[in-house]
Amino acid sequence: MDILLMPVILLPSTPSSRNCSIHNDCYASTYSRIFSLWNPGYSQISLNYFHPTLVAMDLFLNSKVVGWVLVTTALYCIYDVVYRIYFSPVASFPGPRLAALTFAYEFYYDIVKPGQYIWKIQALHEQYGPIVRINPYEIHINDPEFYDALFFNDRAANKWYWSTKIQLQPVVQERIDTLISRLIDHRGTSAVIQAENAFAAMANDIVMEYCFGRHEHRVEAENFDPSFSTTSRAASHSLTLWKFFHPVLTLVMSLPESELCRLGDGIAGAPTMKHAFFQQIDAIRSGRDVAHSESSYATLFHEILSSKLPEHEKTTLRLTDEAELIVGAGTETTRWTLSIAVFHLLDNPTVLRTLKEELRAVDPECQGKTPLPTLQSLPFLSAIINESLRLSYGTTQRLQRVFPFPVVFERSKGGKVWTMPAGTAISVSIPDLHHNKDIFPDSCSFRPGRWIEDPALIKYQLAFSKGSRRCLGMNLVTAEIYTCLAAVFAKFGSAPLRGDKDIGILKLSDTTIDDVKLWGDCFLPIQKPGSNGVRITVGV
Ligand code: HEM
Repeated sequence: MDILLMPVILLPSTPSSRNCSIHNDCYASTYSRIFSLWNPGYSQISLNYFHPTLVAMDLFLNSKVVGWVLVTTALYCIYDVVYRIYFSPVASFPGPRLAALTFAYEFYYDIVKPGQYIWKIQALHEQYGPIVRINPYEIHINDPEFYDALFFNDRAANKWYWSTKIQLQPVVQERIDTLISRLIDHRGTSAVIQAENAFAAMANDIVMEYCFGRHEHRVEAENFDPSFSTTSRAASHSLTLWKFFHPVLTLVMSLPESELCRLGDGIAGAPTMKHAFFQQIDAIRSGRDVAHSESSYATLFHEILSSKLPEHEKTTLRLTDEAELIVGAGTETTRWTLSIAVFHLLDNPTVLRTLKEELRAVDPECQGKTPLPTLQSLPFLSAIINESLRLSYGTTQRLQRVFPFPVVFERSKGGKVWTMPAGTAISVSIPDLHHNKDIFPDSCSFRPGRWIEDPALIKYQLAFSKGSRRCLGMNLVTAEIYTCLAAVFAKFGSAPLRGDKDIGILKLSDTTIDDVKLWGDCFLPIQKPGSNGVRITVGV
């Protein structure tokens, strides 16, 4: 934890006066002040001055130990300041002094002005150039030429083995068909559907099936049961705060579940979710869960548990963490990418018309069941998906890499050559590349045509990241997005664009471009405060 962030969590005053006796008012007022910080009600309580803990504290505070602790802390702070500014391996990199000195700088833009460090970093790049030191340890780079150096592949084979082994297309199609039935149920009513909840439900059901061979039927549930997504998002928001106080988070997470539930949404839902995954994996391990035996496809955790992986890699606790990551990643990113796509398609009749014509050519009866390989060969649908991925970013958190060797950053246009020492945290941000105005002119506009005009642009599609840490669910989610958009828009039109075989139209409800624009970063992209997200109604 950053020593200069300590004042944020430490109590503001501790008694050090040697004259304070155990019986005097100074003592009482000091401790009541300490207690009142945690709960103002305590300041009214008359303290038991002879309580052994308080006596011990008083002896401690009146001893030389306090002096030594203060002097040592002060010396350490001075050492830390001098080291970070002058002797750190990244001391020579440009950037604001304050950011180099303390995480409080990042804390201010990430927490006090929530989620805004992403924009501050962009402003720093304008001021200092493509390479900036953004905190005491991290170098951030904003230069498309650098991505290949950062994202080379050193261990992909092992990881991709798991992700490609599972063939889930029948489940994907079934969940999407059910989603379409739900849309039909809403047809002609004034009910507003929260598109993000609908897509989160679909994505969650699919990724649960991928992991466990069973799912929660969220697509069928009332309001698409957003409980998982809500917990995941709240957790990602609170993680932004907890990353600054990691040891405290470890302590907090070790509290009993009943206590955690009192700490607010972001923390409260997480243990319940973890507990459910733990039980699920334990049931598979012990043979109580046999869901996979009825499936026609392999499922992730049954495969892992019956594999030859070393036992220490298959502990229930470890696999529970993996499940949280995979189900969370598989739900939230898909939800947002599909919401972006649907917003822009309904907002842009010309784009929707071209898509519907392309779909009609391969699905003349508008069945919405075109085989995936055919869909993947459609240029305009592929362009729409690339453009939606570009504007949904995957994650807005910085993608960090630490290498055990020095990394050289050199621009082909010339300029200074930077060598980042081994062990340096080097990061890039997907939105920086996706809004690079030389690569994606008019970058905030939804223009699928750009991917057809210049197929080489695909090199700059970073939504799934690249290299060895590239998204594990890329194949699965690509199948989901192709199938979902093709099925929905084979069957539905929009208000200005209703085809003769359409079974209804989708309309945006109180949703504007501001509801889908990136406003800030809390690990996931966040919309402007107060936004209700993408909302639609279904007309006849
Ligand atoms: C539109 C949908 C998705 C997008 C845009 C997306 C994007 C990303 C990105 C940007 C990363 C970070 C990689 C890095 O740190 O460099 C990532 C990691 C990951 N994603 Fe996805 N993802 C999507 C869907 C999914 C799905 C459906 C799954 C699960 C089946 C999944 C599982 C994972 C996992 C497990 C990781 C961590 C990989 C690792 O650390 O090695 N993602 N994803």
